[in-house]
Amino acid sequence: MTEREVPSVDGLVIGILGGTGDQGRGLAFRFARAGHPVIIGSRTAERAQGIAEQVGHQVQGMANRETAAAADVVIAAVPFDGHRDLLASLAPELAGKIVVDCVNPLGFDQRGAYQLPVPEGSAAEQAAALLPESRVVAAFHHISAVLLLDPEVDSIDLDVMVLGDDREATDQVQALAARIPGVRGVYAGRLRNCGQVEALTANLVSINRRYKAHAGIRITDI
Ligand SMILES: NC(=O)c1ccc[n+]([C@@H]2O[C@H](COP(=O)([O-])OP(=O)(O)OC[C@H]3O[C@@H](n4cnc5c(N)ncnc54)[C@H](OP(=O)(O)O)[C@@H]3O)[C@@H](O)[C@H]2O)c1
Repeated sequence: MTEREVPSVDGLVIGILGGTGDQGRGLAFRFARAGHPVIIGSRTAERAQGIAEQVGHQVQGMANRETAAAADVVIAAVPFDGHRDLLASLAPELAGKIVVDCVNPLGFDQRGAYQLPVPEGSAAEQAAALLPESRVVAAFHHISAVLLLDPEVDSIDLDVMVLGDDREATDQVQALAARIPGVRGVYAGRLRNCGQVEALTANLVSINRRYKAHAGIRITDI
């Protein structure tokens, strides 16, 4: 592969931990519609199966552990307060795999969303610390679940910032992001720079509230 060639991600099995939530279901729908085998994971296999049936497109549902074991690429789409324990418990199943973290450590109060402190620097760095045998990539922080889930929305107008320390893994996740029509995956640095990408979601939440929108971002001049 030359430096700028886009890797093929055709046929990669995508597993989504916490895939029963809005973000996981939305990503499941989009990747399945793009032709990927998708597995929705849950703490409860039956719940995962029920949600998978609702999503359709041959999406399967399994417990999180089976999802992690069966998928080629695993997306962590759980709330930040469940992130540490879930990933720590799945380290053996996730070894050697690309783990995509889209978790935004945010708190909400009457003034809106705000960044929560993370001892490791960011949720993605926490994942990397917990999963030393995995290839952790951070992506999909700013893509709205509402848009992902809306079957009437054919194209989503935004760039997905993709961060990681493994160039081949970030290339693959950029290519995966581009499977969603309208989306471009843009390399945005190493995991140590993920804190501000996660925190930027708090600004997008504020924008969405003020303008009644589902705002995303575009990077210019590339
Ligand atoms: N919603 C968005 O628009 C959006 C956009 C970008 C990024 N994100 C990020 O994506 C992640 C998921 O967002 P969401 O809105 O889909 O969240 P959510 O609906 O609150 O949670 C997703 C799933 O996580 C599982 N879960 C909940 N608490 C858990 C715990 N303590 N331990 C393990 N699993 C737990 C649940 O599945 P089971 O009960 O079936 O196990 C739940 O359905 C968040 O970190 C969020 O910051 C969300």
